[in-house]
Amino acid sequence: MAEDLLFSPFQLKRFSVKNRLGVAPMTRMSSVKDSIPRRDVLDFLVTRAQNGAGIVYTEAIVTDYESAQGYPGQARLTTQRQIDVWSRIVENIRRYGALSIMQMFHCGRVAWPAINPAGRVIAPSPLSPRQDNPLTGQPYPTPDVMSRFDIEHVLNGFVETARGAVAAGFDGIEIHGAHGYLISQFLSAYTNQRSDGYGGSMENRYRFAHEVIQAVRQAVPSDRLLLFRISNWGVVDSQVSLFSDQATYQDIVRRLSQEPIDAVSISTYGYHDEAFGSGKTMACLTREVTALPIFICGKIYDRRSAEEALKDADIVLSGKTALLNPDWVDDLRTGKTLPLHTAEAANIAYTTKPLL
Ligand SMILES: Cc1cc2nc3c(=O)[nH]c(=O)nc-3n(C[C@H](O)[C@H](O)[C@H](O)COP(=O)(O)O)c2cc1C
Repeated sequence: MAEDLLFSPFQLKRFSVKNRLGVAPMTRMSSVKDSIPRRDVLDFLVTRAQNGAGIVYTEAIVTDYESAQGYPGQARLTTQRQIDVWSRIVENIRRYGALSIMQMFHCGRVAWPAINPAGRVIAPSPLSPRQDNPLTGQPYPTPDVMSRFDIEHVLNGFVETARGAVAAGFDGIEIHGAHGYLISQFLSAYTNQRSDGYGGSMENRYRFAHEVIQAVRQAVPSDRLLLFRISNWGVVDSQVSLFSDQATYQDIVRRLSQEPIDAVSISTYGYHDEAFGSGKTMACLTREVTALPIFICGKIYDRRSAEEALKDADIVLSGKTALLNPDWVDDLRTGKTLPLHTAEAANIAYTTKPLL
């Protein structure tokens, strides 16, 4: 019988991931007290491990108390209390044989000043998104241009949060370089119009990502994983291609391949979508220029789509389906017919309604 690739293990450094199926990072906005998610939101992660996922991601955790936060009720991971809560979740995820990965980000120009204690919005350049903030109905404020001091401060936030994750026992730490948030804002010529060493050429626009990776790696022991998430779309001005062409995108992936990271995670609208008019998918274009393990995400929901997505990737992640269907892994095993969930259906994630 042919090997069942979806349910075959994958070696990621010292970790043998038991199958190729992971739960994608998903912001849930439930942290009302002490930047710690609600009990049922944490239990959801453990339940997905219990139900067979090989990898379970946290929601994107914000990296500082000053300017990183973009959505109400986001989690942080820098106090002992936060570390203690997460370490119990990590332990339980491990008990069910899954890997735990903490994802962290800074929202940059998409931050919401009213929910950041310092009330600031900072970004590479003073460019606000064209649309209003859907959560406030108000225009996004024009960000302050990040000074050298701000850059150092933000780097420290990434490092402190990675330290928190290491202390909590996470198997991996992911730097969120996707979706038009701060790191992505530096990478994209659309949002980065600086004329100093952090803007202009690709090398310069890449510098901030490089500094984050290098600084975080110092805090992440070599026996833990460090990953980087990338996408060509953003949560604001979503019609804009963040990397205007294939060459620019592949240049960034080549640069990432030189970094001390252990995998690259690609976020797409749809895994099979053509990228940059190349006739190829994002995963395929990534594979062409890197030997790093590849995670792929975007409209992977049933057995057929998961198997197809694995052609150019090593691990598939599901967001909405993994969120809404507790039996996702078993259903893939049996090849059950499954629906492709809409973003509206997944809005339940942002309500106070528990979801297990
Ligand atoms: C409720 C919700 C919250 C999300 N939050 C995050 C996040 O915190 N970090 C991130 O990188 N992606 C986030 N995403 C994007 C998902 O990780 C994933 O890339 C996207 O949903 C596409 O995959 P899907 O088609 O399987 O849902 C979120 C998606 C949803 C539905």
